[in-house]
Amino acid sequence: MVRSTSALLAVSVCLTSVALGAHLHGRDINEPLLESYDYIVVGCGISGLVVSNRLSEIASRTVLCIEAGDADHYEAIIQDPVYVGADIGGIYDWDLETVPQTQLDGNTRPMPQGKVLGGGSILNAMCWNRGGSDDFDAWEAFGNPGWGWAGILPYFMKSETYTPVYSDEIAEEYSIHYNPAVHGTSGPVQVSYPKYFYPQSINLFAGMNLLGLPTQFDPNDGTSAGPAFVPTDLDPNNQTRSDARRTYFDPYVSRSNFHVITGQHVTRVLIEGTGGNGEVDNPTSGGNDNGNGPASGNNDGFGFGPDGSTPPLSGQTPPRFARRQDPGTSNLRISGVEFATNASALRQTVYATREVIVAAGALHSAQLLQLSGIGPESLLNQYNITVALNLPGVGNNLQDHPLVGTFYPWADNNASYPSPTELTTNATYNLQAEQEYDTDKTGPWTAGSPNGLAFNPLPLISNNSASILSNASNQNPTDYLVAGLDPTIIAGFTAQKQSLVTRLAENTVAAYEIINNNAGSLTVSVMHPFSRGTCYIQSADPFQPPAIDPRWLTNPVDRQILIEALLFNRQILAAPPMVELQAAQFVPPVDADEDALDQVINNGIRTEFHPSGTLAMLPLDQGGVVDSHLLVWV
Ligand SMILES: Cc1cc2nc3c(=O)[nH]c(=O)nc-3n(C[C@H](O)[C@H](O)[C@H](O)COP(=O)(O)OP(=O)(O)OC[C@H]3O[C@@H](n4cnc5c(N)ncnc54)[C@H](O)[C@@H]3O)c2cc1C
Ligand SMILES: *[C@@H]1O[C@H](CO)[C@@H](O)[C@H](O)[C@H]1NC(C)=O
Ligand SMILES: *[C@@H]1O[C@H](CO)[C@@H](O)[C@H](O)[C@H]1NC(C)=O
Ligand SMILES: *[C@@H]1O[C@H](CO)[C@@H](O)[C@H](O)[C@H]1NC(C)=O
Ligand SMILES: *[C@@H]1O[C@H](CO)[C@@H](O)[C@H](O)[C@H]1NC(C)=O
Ligand SMILES: *[C@@H]1O[C@H](CO)[C@@H](O)[C@H](O)[C@H]1NC(C)=O
Ligand SMILES: *[C@@H]1O[C@H](CO)[C@@H](O)[C@H](O)[C@H]1NC(C)=O
Ligand SMILES: *[C@@H]1O[C@H](CO)[C@@H](O)[C@H](O)[C@H]1NC(C)=O
Repeated sequence: MVRSTSALLAVSVCLTSVALGAHLHGRDINEPLLESYDYIVVGCGISGLVVSNRLSEIASRTVLCIEAGDADHYEAIIQDPVYVGADIGGIYDWDLETVPQTQLDGNTRPMPQGKVLGGGSILNAMCWNRGGSDDFDAWEAFGNPGWGWAGILPYFMKSETYTPVYSDEIAEEYSIHYNPAVHGTSGPVQVSYPKYFYPQSINLFAGMNLLGLPTQFDPNDGTSAGPAFVPTDLDPNNQTRSDARRTYFDPYVSRSNFHVITGQHVTRVLIEGTGGNGEVDNPTSGGNDNGNGPASGNNDGFGFGPDGSTPPLSGQTPPRFARRQDPGTSNLRISGVEFATNASALRQTVYATREVIVAAGALHSAQLLQLSGIGPESLLNQYNITVALNLPGVGNNLQDHPLVGTFYPWADNNASYPSPTELTTNATYNLQAEQEYDTDKTGPWTAGSPNGLAFNPLPLISNNSASILSNASNQNPTDYLVAGLDPTIIAGFTAQKQSLVTRLAENTVAAYEIINNNAGSLTVSVMHPFSRGTCYIQSADPFQPPAIDPRWLTNPVDRQILIEALLFNRQILAAPPMVELQAAQFVPPVDADEDALDQVINNGIRTEFHPSGTLAMLPLDQGGVVDSHLLVWV
């Protein structure tokens, strides 16, 4: 379900800075903040917890992670895989929505995002699936040394303890193979497979194999084309979710230098200094109730290069933001953050002696920088926000995976093909399954994640692929972008578009994903979108959500890919192994013409929950926000 495919996303941003905090466990959550912290991390989701955990490995460093959501209470709805998806829209969701999507049916759409210690890893579908090597190699080619597949793989491996599927027979039937050279055996996240398998994946894979799409050997080895049964972030022994909180935080609560506070919303980062192209912010002007001024800077420029190392310091003065070729006269620095429990609560401030690391997800990180005076000048002016740094890229280049649901219910009267639907329609069956889970940690309750997937390349599923890509190539880059974008952003999209056209022509690069939920749905979603959206503040109030406009399918290439995907679904359903399932074609109907498919798409598009790209790791003259050390460009 995953694949961080879009070449240019930067979900976390490092800003240099300075000192202080609150906490859970190691220190009590209600204890006063420390005098100062070396590092402050905003957002304790997947990125934020990994970064704060790694930084606090060195006992002499103090690290504070600040999370807007609460800590979960080990509820079954989070931990038991059968409930995957059930907590969307619940108490751990920000409940965001998009602006009306006029290019579709004019309606808004939900945009679920985790608001909880552990972020998206608490809400997500648990599919543990690395992007294709070409995605990372493209990042590197865009001026980011070390971010290619070879540079990233050791960190993927370091994160996981991989346990192969428990049965050789299942491994053969479902083609679940693995290459030990790309898997970790001692990392924090437990990666494994359920103890129950719906046989529909066998039919689906066999059908696609007949149509010329071989099953991937190991979907985490850098290949990204074709069907695959992907592993999950699942503890192999007790079959529970192995999320960021339980892997990067809970086992480390006794680290007294690692502090986490929850239920605290960061309202802005505090900026001091002058230069760049903006003005100065007074770090003590913002309702500071703890009286701590910024600690004196002892900035070591730690910036999490992809190799986890400190970026090279070419001079004596450590970088506070990233430096331009021409460093100019800027001495802007981030000194801390301001936060509050809620809109009416007193704002507090806390300072960092070294860095503030923004890891609030693609949407809220963009919002936070904008609120703080870092972003497109015209946008900030609209809300009377003092411009510290005019950085046009912040909140632009938004990419998401648009997904269309389908409904092809299989015959439900065939005992050879059990369906997860039975868990909701047959109370006796569900009770048996629950008991089996409780006592043996086996059975259908272990198999909630929809992990029989396919990532199909365009040339292998459509005879129109050359024509679609040549049309994409011939587009003027501004044809489908928001009007009036800064020229640097247009330059960045121009480069991305060329990269996409070249890569999508390959038989090894995924154009779209199929998710099989074993209950008659084969959703299709665009994996390398050409459409670009925006995430802009719509108020100077940090407690108002940003305006999220994914602009799904505004570029017609994305729509053409979905049409080809829906047509190819018909070929899959007509392949003999799938005919056995006796599927009806309800959505879209079997005879839907292209107009009817358009309607299904316009009504059906939803997010696949993967917003990215709003703080692009790109050169400044291509709309970049951060450099390859994730330091904000000045
Ligand atoms: C429903 C769903 C299903 C998904 N399925 C999968 C899947 O199967 N496999 C997969 O790999 N990926 C999946 N994803 C995507 C994956 O979860 C995300 O890519 C990932 O969580 C992003 O990590 P992050 O650290 O950038 O952001 P997040 O994990 O979202 O963390 C950001 C954190 O920052 C906090 N925050 C935001 N603003 C503030 C603020 N102002 N102050 C303080 N804290 C703040 C948030 O509350 C959140 O905890 C799914 C996502 C969702 C929502
Ligand atoms: C599952 O097992 C892990 C150890 O592998 C443990 O940390 C965790 O608490 C267990 N979870 C449940 C719900 O039993
Ligand atoms: C806001 O936070 C304050 C301080 O924590 C608390 O007393 C108050 O009840 C909260 N208000 C709301 C509406 O939650
Ligand atoms: C910005 O400031 C101007 C001048 O004080 C005021 O007229 C305008 O209403 C303000 N705009 C916002 C969005 O607050
Ligand atoms: C419900 O499940 C039970 C237990 O598996 C099974 O015996 C029964 O036939 C099922 N009922 C229906 C209507 O399918
Ligand atoms: C391409 O066209 C040929 C000839 O009409 C047809 O046999 C084949 O199935 C088509 N391929 C796809 C992927 O649709
Ligand atoms: C490519 O563009 C041409 C001209 O607009 C159009 O006729 C053709 O249908 C497009 N090709 C595809 C595959 O959409
Ligand atoms: C159930 O599926 C099996 C395997 O495809 C098939 O042989 C059998 O005829 C089907 N039974 C019914 C009742 O459709």
